[in-house]
Amino acid sequence: MVLVWLAVVPAWAALQPISRVREIAQVAPSTRVVIRGTVTRCRPGHSLYVQDQTGSILVRIDKSSPVAVGDIVEVSGLADVDNDAPAVIHARYEKFGVAEAPVPIGVDARDLAQGKHDADLVAVEGTFGGVRTGHTEDGLMILADGVDFIAWVPKETAGSATALRPGSRVRVRGIVSINVTNGRPSGFELLMRTGDDAMVIRRAAWWTTRGAWTTAVVVAAVLPLLFSYVFLLQRQVRRQTAIIHQKLLAESELKEQYRQAQKMEAIGRLAGGIAHDFNNIMTVVLGHSEMLVLELKDHPELRTSAEEIRNAAERAAGLTRQLLAFSRRQKLDPAPVDLNAVARDMVSLLSRVLGGEIEVRAEAGAEAVTIETDRAQLEQALLNLAVNARDAMPEGGRLVLSVSRQARDGQTAAVMAVTDTGTGIALDVRGHIFDPFFTTKEVGRGSGLGLAMVYGFVQQSGGAIQVYSTVGGGTTFELAFPLTPPAARSRSDAC
Ligand SMILES: Nc1ncnc2c1ncn2[C@@H]1O[C@H](COP(=O)(O)OP(=O)(O)OP(=O)(O)O)[C@@H](O)[C@H]1O
Ligand SMILES: [Mg+2]
Repeated sequence: MVLVWLAVVPAWAALQPISRVREIAQVAPSTRVVIRGTVTRCRPGHSLYVQDQTGSILVRIDKSSPVAVGDIVEVSGLADVDNDAPAVIHARYEKFGVAEAPVPIGVDARDLAQGKHDADLVAVEGTFGGVRTGHTEDGLMILADGVDFIAWVPKETAGSATALRPGSRVRVRGIVSINVTNGRPSGFELLMRTGDDAMVIRRAAWWTTRGAWTTAVVVAAVLPLLFSYVFLLQRQVRRQTAIIHQKLLAESELKEQYRQAQKMEAIGRLAGGIAHDFNNIMTVVLGHSEMLVLELKDHPELRTSAEEIRNAAERAAGLTRQLLAFSRRQKLDPAPVDLNAVARDMVSLLSRVLGGEIEVRAEAGAEAVTIETDRAQLEQALLNLAVNARDAMPEGGRLVLSVSRQARDGQTAAVMAVTDTGTGIALDVRGHIFDPFFTTKEVGRGSGLGLAMVYGFVQQSGGAIQVYSTVGGGTTFELAFPLTPPAARSRSDAC
């Protein structure tokens, strides 16, 4: 809708070119004038800029009626100066039609600095330096042709113009507003209509020398921190990995121990059951063969057969005893036993059993290390270990029985260690050595019950057995028993 504010133009006021009106404003202020031209900028209720073929001028209006850039208006008012610049003040205007959008004049900023093109719509190319924030307008700071100036844009129409990257090459359009001090031009500003009046010709490079220096300084400051952080992180990760590895290892060892214990338990139960019945049978065979040997003293050829039967029955009874020991169903006769004394006493017996090529030594402490056990069975177990050691040292070597107190699972244990300098036990063999009937010896040399007996006996005594071995570097069997407390010792000693 075109609203027309009816202008009351006196009959004597003829239409004048704008260049002429600008002169009148300087020389004869308050002269009534009439101009006609195209609107190049408008601020509703405040001002218009109007241009014709001869020039442009600021028009101060008191009231607004709808008018837009590109409209042709006829303005009547008083030619005068406004802030030392020519203007038409107290103006009224009437819209006459619509013209082509006004085309800005391409200018050199130096001309504007000299005061030329006041109120003209111009276009200047320059470099965007930053934003100055005003009350109702934002200013783009531009450097063009060696001249600094500000191009103001109303906040509400600024759009993304204020988000330009400093250093970008821009083309700004706007109305020239020359500042005058003491009658001389002292600078200028551009009055943009909207943010679209600032067009980017070339975006500023992201990588500027200043930016590069700043980045270098920041990187130099941050890098050592980063390296320290990574170093600490690596150390932490290594430490955690080692802990996890150890935990997993301990877990798998525990699982293996549990599996082994269950296996031994199952085999023990089976072997124990058979051995028990077999032992009863063997007792009968032994008894009767003994009687036969006595009865047949006048029949030497028959007596020899009876003796063979008795000998075989004795061997079988020996085997069943070992099986019973393994299955922890052996009858034990426990009493306080000082391991130091046992170790010392066994030296001469073992030296004889093992032969001259093997040195037997006891490493016993001065203090008594007493346990509650069946001494005969303990000596049998040590003998079994010693015989195995002998078989592992065919060229000779050393066997050491050492006694000590050691902390185990928060308690003090009495430990008897049997160490040899023999062949050691291969890893794949180590998991089976306590199995009954497991032997690596040739047929007829080993029954595979020696360690099974030791295992069963130690378990039945409330202890535990451990083996440490290095292939080619010898073997140690550690028999750990619960230490008998001194009070209990003296009580049992008194009995
Ligand atoms: N000190 C040791 N050094 C090297 N290997 C050993 C040692 N002790 C035991 N072994 C291995 O463990 C296996 C089982 O031993 P274990 O005493 O149970 O049976 P054995 O000695 O073969 O037969 P047995 O003792 O019944 O006559 C042995 O065959 C041997 O391979
Ligand atoms: Mg053996």
